[in-house]
Amino acid sequence: MKYRFAVLLLLLVSVSFIRYDDRQFLQENFAFAQAQTWNMLSEANKTDTLFPRTTDDKGQLKLSNKYEWTSGFFPGTLWYIYQATGSDSIRRQALAWTAKLESLKTFTQHHDLGFMMYCSYGNAYRLTKDESYKSLLIQSAHSLSTRFSEKTGSIRSWNKFGSWDGKNKYDYPVIIDNMMNLELLFFAANASNDLRLRKIAVTHAENVMKNQLRADGSCYHVVCYDEQTGKVLARETAQGYANNSTWSRGQAWGIYGFTMTYRETRDKKFLNTAIKMADYYVNHPDLPSDKVCYWDFNANQNGYTPGARSKAPMTPANYRDVSAAAITASALLELSTFAGERGKVYKDVAVKILHALGSDVYRASLGGNGGFLLKHSVGSIAHGSEIDVPLVYADYYYVEALNRYKNLLDGKKLN
Ligand code: GLY
Repeated sequence: MKYRFAVLLLLLVSVSFIRYDDRQFLQENFAFAQAQTWNMLSEANKTDTLFPRTTDDKGQLKLSNKYEWTSGFFPGTLWYIYQATGSDSIRRQALAWTAKLESLKTFTQHHDLGFMMYCSYGNAYRLTKDESYKSLLIQSAHSLSTRFSEKTGSIRSWNKFGSWDGKNKYDYPVIIDNMMNLELLFFAANASNDLRLRKIAVTHAENVMKNQLRADGSCYHVVCYDEQTGKVLARETAQGYANNSTWSRGQAWGIYGFTMTYRETRDKKFLNTAIKMADYYVNHPDLPSDKVCYWDFNANQNGYTPGARSKAPMTPANYRDVSAAAITASALLELSTFAGERGKVYKDVAVKILHALGSDVYRASLGGNGGFLLKHSVGSIAHGSEIDVPLVYADYYYVEALNRYKNLLDGKKLN
């Protein structure tokens, strides 16, 4: 009896130590994120029109314009740091950086409006409940919906896509990343009781399930449709190693996108798809022990050949992609709350990724790394750009995941 009691006590003490350690870990990471973001702001606030994206060859901050798909991530990161710290000065920065994107509400030139507006204004609305943000998000969702066609049952990602083999050009490419843009549509559908926006999001997700997924739970990056007939013309890659390979960030977008789509629909087919995609990641034999994936699950392997014009063969080193790992960590934390007994595996992998990213291996030192939080991401090896650099979206999903983990520990709603 005494022995059993002692074992139980030991167990309880060790569980509370783990919790205590993780709370300290979160505290320390939020404090670091806040301090490092002031370093970023001291540079980034020198411009009114550009947004942090990555670093240049000299390790200095590199910015891009608001029409780039990445413009919403820095405002969103500020909102997550405000959520974690309650800092009023960070809140003022978040307000100012978000406001710079207002004119995008009518933007229709590519599908990334979801990232641009939901990561910025979506978080702004969630944390302030300012009604003007809500109407702006609804208007943005209508702009995004203009890219949907009934024929393809999909939102057109880009206006053009050329194969890496140089032989074909397509007018209706849909990329797996597009799953992320559905969150803006679901938000606006709920906020304005608009069944049409909801139907568009669900139909798009169903067609991704049908046309973009492979039997093993991995996905193609790009599916090209015939705009007139809705037929699938090709399945290829833009940023992955080869057409038949699994680009890690694409896999991460899929895990996150289908988990979010299940949250919004409660339709089990989307949950099963998220689980299948997550299992591909967590069970992959080439996933390193710190669970931070390589940039493509099949780079340099037999049976995978880049198209003739791809620059992938010029980068034989196999880099990790911290951005893919951060997105996956955030997605797995949410998936863990839906997946019953399997949820523990997803949560453990997510927490392992967060601890790895918070270590010296991946996290910047204060004042370095152009003001970004994390190192070692990959933009596009196929294009020969942004290789082993900080990326603003890695930071965004990292602080999102840290906030989600804190909410999980506190027994609160995740988002
Ligand atoms: N959505 C573009 C990317 O993941 O690089």
